[in-house]
Amino acid sequence: MNLPQELRYRPYEDWTKEEIKNIRENVERSPWHATYHIEPKTGLLNDPNGFSYYKGKFQLFYQNWPFGAAHGLKSWVHTESKDLVHFKETGIILKPDNPHDSHGAYSGSAYEINDKLFLFYTGNVRDKNWIRHPLQIGAFMDKKGHITKCKNVLIDQPEDVSEHFRDPQIFNYKGQFYAIVGAQNHAKQGFIKLYKALNNDVLHWQFVGDLDFGGKASEYMIECPNLVFVGDKPVLLYSPQGLSKSELHYDNIYPNAYKICQSFDTHTPALKGASDILNLDFGFECYATQGFNAPDGRVLTVSWIGLPDIDYPTDRYDYQGAMSLVKELQIKNGKLYQYPVEAVTSLRSSQEDFTSKSETNNCYELELQFKANSKTKLTLFADDKGNGLTILVDTSQGKILVDRSKAGEQYALEFGTTRSCTIEAKATSANIFIDKSIFEIFINKGEKVFTGRVFPQMNQTGIIINSGEATGKYYELKY
Ligand code: FRU
Repeated sequence: MNLPQELRYRPYEDWTKEEIKNIRENVERSPWHATYHIEPKTGLLNDPNGFSYYKGKFQLFYQNWPFGAAHGLKSWVHTESKDLVHFKETGIILKPDNPHDSHGAYSGSAYEINDKLFLFYTGNVRDKNWIRHPLQIGAFMDKKGHITKCKNVLIDQPEDVSEHFRDPQIFNYKGQFYAIVGAQNHAKQGFIKLYKALNNDVLHWQFVGDLDFGGKASEYMIECPNLVFVGDKPVLLYSPQGLSKSELHYDNIYPNAYKICQSFDTHTPALKGASDILNLDFGFECYATQGFNAPDGRVLTVSWIGLPDIDYPTDRYDYQGAMSLVKELQIKNGKLYQYPVEAVTSLRSSQEDFTSKSETNNCYELELQFKANSKTKLTLFADDKGNGLTILVDTSQGKILVDRSKAGEQYALEFGTTRSCTIEAKATSANIFIDKSIFEIFINKGEKVFTGRVFPQMNQTGIIINSGEATGKYYELKY
């Protein structure tokens, strides 16, 4: 939503109790609240931040402007979880209250250091001419959730980058801390800078070099780069803004992409043997995915179900955006798989064989099988006229097509109303998670993923099998 800059950057303390109460009440009026996905209490949620493990719990923060559905003065909201399914939100924890983050505590990552959680993030600072000075800064969160910000800037804006320099990801590679930061050069090309913690001290960072990941630099900015290690393969997850469509086909305003690499050369520095760039998600909204190598050995990711620069039907209720389910990454036969963590099955509260249904509570999981050489069309969020979200699974041509043109309130129409991907022409499965206004579709247990939103009318709750055959289960989900 377009709101005036003065409003978006109004100091938090200037918002009156009355104004905040009105915003809260307006958020409550929305008919589209998710139940088992994280949504902002108020305002706009964007990137996942600081996904990590600390004091026996998973820590997950998100970017938030709490006063409406717009990108304003950003903070980090803190949540934590034992099972990665049930999250407890403790509130705004990292505020833009310091000269080094005066115009927003922007995205970043976290890692436990000496019994505290180190938060490595971007301080968005603008001077009186509204010129942006991006700073990479730090803070420590203790066990009680108290924040102590580091006095010094950890990484200053280098000479060869424009005002776009942000989203540090700290990671530990063979015992050494590194960080990658998304950047734009003065020729307006996106790239990634690699830093190394001097003597492994996260308060002192040394520039190693621009990371060669076999990119063509057709994007104008790389947001939220993340390097995770899946087995022995480095996987780079990133959000390349303005990427040329000759490099990668995508329909959303910006893609969320990845590359599987063969090795990480910390000296050159390079990700060697990088694959072509690939879409992480084929749906309508998935961005700024953040991943980390968890201490239990899993590689975990979570995505923002939303996109920059898009208006949503929830904007009129003063909120926008949600977090995806937490997904685990695996590589099988050289392919990346993303699938919700096992604990998601704990949401299943009842089970039935899959059939058409005139009514559901739009809060369920379908686990479906489609035979080889078949074409099946399903409609979810269906009303009695047959409108809804259609999913076509064509195992003869090897194609999946998701169409939301007849599902609920329309938006972002300039980016089209269908999304598709190819699959191998053979028997196929789909696990489909529906949560009021969110869908996450996992084909063949995560070989391909479609994440997106629909904003159904009150009567759009049915399931129709329009043609073909799908067998499997319907599970009602309960948070
Ligand atoms: C990506 C992003 C980041 C930035 C943050 C600000 O969505 O633009 O690059 O740090 O959002 O909220």
